[in-house]
Amino acid sequence: MDLQALRVADNELWAEGPPHEVFRELRQRCPVHWSSGISQTPEDAGFWSVTRAEDVHTVSRDWQTYSSASNFLITDHGVPMDLLKGMFIGMDPPMHDRIKALFQRAFTPKAIAQHEAAIREITAGVMDGLEGREEIDLVLDVAQPVVARVIGSFMGLDPEDDKPWADAINKLLGFGDPVINPGGIEQLVIEHLPPMLDKCMALISDRRANPTDDMVSTLVFADIDGDTLTDYEIFAGFVLLMAAGNDSTKATYTSTMRALMENPEQRELLVEDPSLVPGAVEEALRMFPAFAHFRRTATKDTELGGCPIKAGDKIALWYPSSNRDEERYEDPDTFDVRRNPEHQAFGAGGRHFCLGTALARLELKILVEETVRRFPRMSLAGEPTWVVSQFSSQLKHLPVRLHG
Ligand code: HEM
Repeated sequence: MDLQALRVADNELWAEGPPHEVFRELRQRCPVHWSSGISQTPEDAGFWSVTRAEDVHTVSRDWQTYSSASNFLITDHGVPMDLLKGMFIGMDPPMHDRIKALFQRAFTPKAIAQHEAAIREITAGVMDGLEGREEIDLVLDVAQPVVARVIGSFMGLDPEDDKPWADAINKLLGFGDPVINPGGIEQLVIEHLPPMLDKCMALISDRRANPTDDMVSTLVFADIDGDTLTDYEIFAGFVLLMAAGNDSTKATYTSTMRALMENPEQRELLVEDPSLVPGAVEEALRMFPAFAHFRRTATKDTELGGCPIKAGDKIALWYPSSNRDEERYEDPDTFDVRRNPEHQAFGAGGRHFCLGTALARLELKILVEETVRRFPRMSLAGEPTWVVSQFSSQLKHLPVRLHG
């Protein structure tokens, strides 16, 4: 492999998910690697790839040197910048910490545990609806409706709004996928974003008049040291929570089920002992992190893994790589439900560590438990396909036969 010519974020490497072979080679030969650009968006500058767990950890913990404020995606030519900058994941302290703090109470493991019965009811409702069907798409028929209703109920949306919001969020996160966005970024910005904004503005004015205890109301009435969020910042916060809540759990659930179908002896362990499900979820988070990267931007000249990083350089933290780092894991490409590993799927600590870990873990536990219990012989009914994305690492379709 010609590492000097290698451009890690080029689409052709990502047609079938993350390029694990490329990452393995980088970890061994060039763990902090410079790509000269991104071929599908030639306007983009080059960037550094960080591929080892130790270095991902170092960068994640040092927000003073590695800022999230310029952009948290490796391309500056995807999702519109004002939307990205309005999200607290795209801010540095102190503003980041103040906005995140508004939500933290609602997302503690204790607070989230109170939603267990409701999440199980949503999951059971969707799975009961499969009665009489033989072949389904696990992405569209199970994962999407469950995760959309769970996050929809947190946000205070009506169930009939789940599908339109899920479609809109899929378009936003799958911004580079030619099937999801046939008209490219321009169509996303001109056609799809304005109705989202209008819908959200209607929600905002409704909550202003009729406050509830949902997340939209939290954003609308946020008091940040005497300041409030602008309507556009509320929209950005809303989109962040909807996107994080929708795509991440959907991606991890479907990857987990695919791995279990491809490793039936591992599934058998769960069928016999469902108490192994939470460990299986951690192993799936390790092997198939829902977000392939988050970006930082260097605020000053520094050095990482012996490489000279210049102020303003872009840095991609590649979790599909760091989560298979041979220095941390034995047989990193083997799916082992008993491994119960630590991993960086939720980030590697630091200020931006995922807000939704407790919710994600609970949702995933319930989804996998219910699926394995109801459909212990589920099998693949066709080729799974991936969303073409260097960010949202997930299957677009997963055709399955419910009863083998
Ligand atoms: C499998 C599920 C999930 C995965 C793999 C995941 C992963 C991540 C990652 C990698 C980050 C960035 C970490 C960093 O930059 O250091 C993040 C941040 C975040 N996640 Fe999650 N996430 C998941 C589920 C959720 C859910 C269900 C929610 C809730 C709605 C959520 C809300 C957020 C928010 C708000 C942030 C920004 C935090 C900040 O900037 O301080 N996530 N997540």
